[in-house]
Amino acid sequence: MAPIKRIGILTGGGDAPGLNAVIRAVVKTAWNSGIGCVGLEDSYDGLLEFDRSRILAPRDVTGILRLGGTILGTINTGNPYDSIIQTSDGPRKYGERVIDMFHKMGLDALVVIGGDGTLAIGHEFCKLGVPLVGVPKTIDNDIVGTTNCFGFDTAVAFATDAIDRLHTTAEAHHRVMIVEVMGRNAGWIALYAGVAGGADAILIPEIPFDIEIVAERLRARDKWGAKFSIVVAAEGAFPKGGKVTLQAAANDTHVERLGGIGAQLCEPLAVLTNKETRSVVLGHLQRGGAPTSFDRVLATRFGAKAVELIQQGQFGTMVAWDPPDIISRRLEDVVGKTKTVPMDSDLLQTARALGVTFGD
Ligand code: F6P
Repeated sequence: MAPIKRIGILTGGGDAPGLNAVIRAVVKTAWNSGIGCVGLEDSYDGLLEFDRSRILAPRDVTGILRLGGTILGTINTGNPYDSIIQTSDGPRKYGERVIDMFHKMGLDALVVIGGDGTLAIGHEFCKLGVPLVGVPKTIDNDIVGTTNCFGFDTAVAFATDAIDRLHTTAEAHHRVMIVEVMGRNAGWIALYAGVAGGADAILIPEIPFDIEIVAERLRARDKWGAKFSIVVAAEGAFPKGGKVTLQAAANDTHVERLGGIGAQLCEPLAVLTNKETRSVVLGHLQRGGAPTSFDRVLATRFGAKAVELIQQGQFGTMVAWDPPDIISRRLEDVVGKTKTVPMDSDLLQTARALGVTFGD
């Protein structure tokens, strides 16, 4: 294998705290091995034109470890491989242009930091001869093959803090507070933040709920003297026999947007519990802000490992956390799948043992 001299870095999909920590780790590790880095702007779009990229040296990434967002920008659209786009060389197929420019820019490999969508596109480019290594990112923690993605811990910490704050106002007003959290079709954020925040009901997509069972649990609390309750609902949670609540259906460029289950549960729960009920949507606040120390460490380890895999020529792989080690997985074994909360999850069982209802 020819020595690696120059690698491109891109961030794709929804942002997650820790993206900048990965970029910094890649740039510094590569630099110390004599490898140059090129930052590609807005995911694979950074490979469409020369002016959508810039050289990244250690001085360009100093101070970004603690910053949320991504200094490279990101986009969250569907697989654009076959779409025809206008380029400075005339109309081209998106995918062909990306591969062509990868070579014209003198890149030897890519580090692709993203969720399932970005990694799946990367897997396709890899099959077409673009050597690359993936880094799993998502606050949803739903990527197969890694115990944690960076960003998840920060989202859970934020949601837990929000639940703590809602506890005091719920108690003061003897109300039911419903907290809607993100997570798409996986209940990881709801489960972890729900347990960490002491929720009384946790509704996750993996367990379709019965609202009467949820209400019964809240009424029982009233009987023994707790005049308030906290319900954490994952945005992807849905009632038995019902459907996920959507803000917008999928279209040509964007996957479906989930959201609204919290507001939808307000009135029925108020009626069934005879208590004032309010809902709060945490939304994109869960994706913003500084990464936790856990996510900074994980992101840093992921970035350094990605450079190591590239140097070893282990392309078509993704770095992953298999505690206590950072390992590699084949992209073909992880893309196109979703890691949901298993029914034998220890945390799920623990929550049940404490009396938390999942509405089933
Ligand atoms: O995948 C991360 C995530 O934040 C999901 O939890 C959420 O459903 C989605 O992205 C929101 O996407 P957008 O930023 O495009 O609205």
